[in-house]
Amino acid sequence: MTQKTEKQKESRYAKAIKIQKLSKVFHSESGSTVSALHDINLTVNSGEFITVLGATGCGKTTLLNLIAGLDIPDEGYLDLNDNLKFGMNIAYVFQHYTLFPWRTTLNNVAFALEMRGISKQERKLEAVKLLSKVGLEGFENAYTHELSGGMRQRAAIAQALAMKPKLLLMDEPFGAVDDSTRADLQRMIIQLWHENQITIIFVTHNIDEAIILGDRVLVLSERPGKIVNEFDVNLPRPRNHLTPEFTEFFMKIRQTLSGQLD
Ligand SMILES: Nc1ncnc2c1ncn2[C@@H]1O[C@H](COP(=O)(O)OP(=O)(O)OP(=O)(O)O)[C@@H](O)[C@H]1O
Ligand SMILES: [Mg+2]
Repeated sequence: MTQKTEKQKESRYAKAIKIQKLSKVFHSESGSTVSALHDINLTVNSGEFITVLGATGCGKTTLLNLIAGLDIPDEGYLDLNDNLKFGMNIAYVFQHYTLFPWRTTLNNVAFALEMRGISKQERKLEAVKLLSKVGLEGFENAYTHELSGGMRQRAAIAQALAMKPKLLLMDEPFGAVDDSTRADLQRMIIQLWHENQITIIFVTHNIDEAIILGDRVLVLSERPGKIVNEFDVNLPRPRNHLTPEFTEFFMKIRQTLSGQLD
């Protein structure tokens, strides 16, 4: 079983993100408005692994975009601590792949290292190491179209890690892979989280995945998204979805998602 280090336990007391009464409304060119998020209140501790569940279109990506600073809220307050800054120490694995198709896997990762000002020689060595961490050794010279969906996701994660993030935002990163690849990727991300002591906010549609990964599972309501419930998953890792405790979390979360609980 993977144990949290003392440092990780301590760092949990520091606040990484504080969100209060956050709302976001989109105005389309045709004049219609969509209220995407309403009255979001959330505090994320440093080193915490948060998973987010919610129906399609309820504002999950919007929430990550607001945290990343890629969009601005209409109302409310969003405070990033730990000197968190997008492009510096916040990495974002987007819902859709964002690898450069004209670069090899190695050069995609090296690009993020270049952004950090790492020298050309070191970039290559570091990129090789990161690709090996995510299980992509042997594919350094492959282009994006030569990689499978799961491999692209691994490469996108290696690229995000190359930024040495303190905060990692992940938007359904394991959505397009089979169950066994998904389980591999879940183990990998837990390992990387332990090694790198990062705060992670991870969006998924998969209840099992939310419980397997998260210290805390947030459930959003249908649009406009509001946090309807949150679950502290106090189960030891690695988590086994066949245990009664796991099943209990699963049932409660499923009920919340289907609107049967407040
Ligand atoms: N730039 C935009 N302009 C207008 N409307 C937008 C914009 N971005 C998102 N929306 C709307 O806001 C709502 C929330 O979108 P968002 O992408 O956050 O949902 P989501 O929960 O991530 O959904 P999914 O699970 O399908 O990825 C949707 O109704 C969407 O149409
Ligand atoms: Mg989304």
